[in-house]
Amino acid sequence: MRFLIRHFLQMIQFFGALIGNMGWKPRPSSNAHDLLKAAWISKFIDDDSRVLDVGGGNGRRLSDLSLYVRDLNGVSIDVYEPEQIVLPIDTMKAPEISTFDGISIPFSENEFDVVLVCYVLHHLSETHSQKLLANATSVAAKRVILLEDSRPTFDLPYRLRNWAHATESNLLYEARSDDFARNFKHSFKTHNQWEEVLKGLPSVKKVQCVPLDQISRYRHHTMFVLDLN
Ligand SMILES: C[S@@+](CC[C@H](N)C(=O)[O-])C[C@H]1O[C@@H](n2cnc3c(N)ncnc32)[C@H](O)[C@@H]1O
Repeated sequence: MRFLIRHFLQMIQFFGALIGNMGWKPRPSSNAHDLLKAAWISKFIDDDSRVLDVGGGNGRRLSDLSLYVRDLNGVSIDVYEPEQIVLPIDTMKAPEISTFDGISIPFSENEFDVVLVCYVLHHLSETHSQKLLANATSVAAKRVILLEDSRPTFDLPYRLRNWAHATESNLLYEARSDDFARNFKHSFKTHNQWEEVLKGLPSVKKVQCVPLDQISRYRHHTMFVLDLN
């Protein structure tokens, strides 16, 4: 009986909210996984920091981060011109958005406290990725944070997934910008492979590999935190 009454009351709640919300559009915002990622990333960013997001599209990760980092001063650059972001909260400061050629980061040395490069590098060729990474490190004073699709090893289903992801994204990005360098030879790396590459970068003092599998929808989401000299 209690079960039936509860279900009846749940139905009233459902239809009441459905009708009560007619004509109201929920504000587009990041999903729970992205907000959890932002919470983890924020542990490595001090309040009042100036943060550059390379390949940051409309700046939505910076806007997520602003929910956790006080007075974050965010700039996002990408190879295409994105649509204006709708901020989760009206009073928040919108990140500055601009375009660049996908290689020469148009800022001076140490201009930012932290530079983010999220899910970008595996789309580029090895040489391109190395150059962009070196440029990202030079404009960062304290830290570079990467988010990558990375696993301790890639088994066959994952290799297939990576190939399909890289190919599909190439088709999207090249249609969006002439500055996207088409590359069907993607450069996904395992945790160890990334650590090896990152430790070899000049001015990198320490590399931490932080698997985000506990808070992500998929196990391949991984963060690499590079502390700089
Ligand atoms: C998978 S999306 C990730 C977007 C965003 N960083 C995020 O985490 O949601 C990859 C992004 O990399 C950008 N991109 C592609 N080539 C790039 C390059 N050479 N330099 C910077 N961004 C690039 C694409 O335009 C796209 O916005």
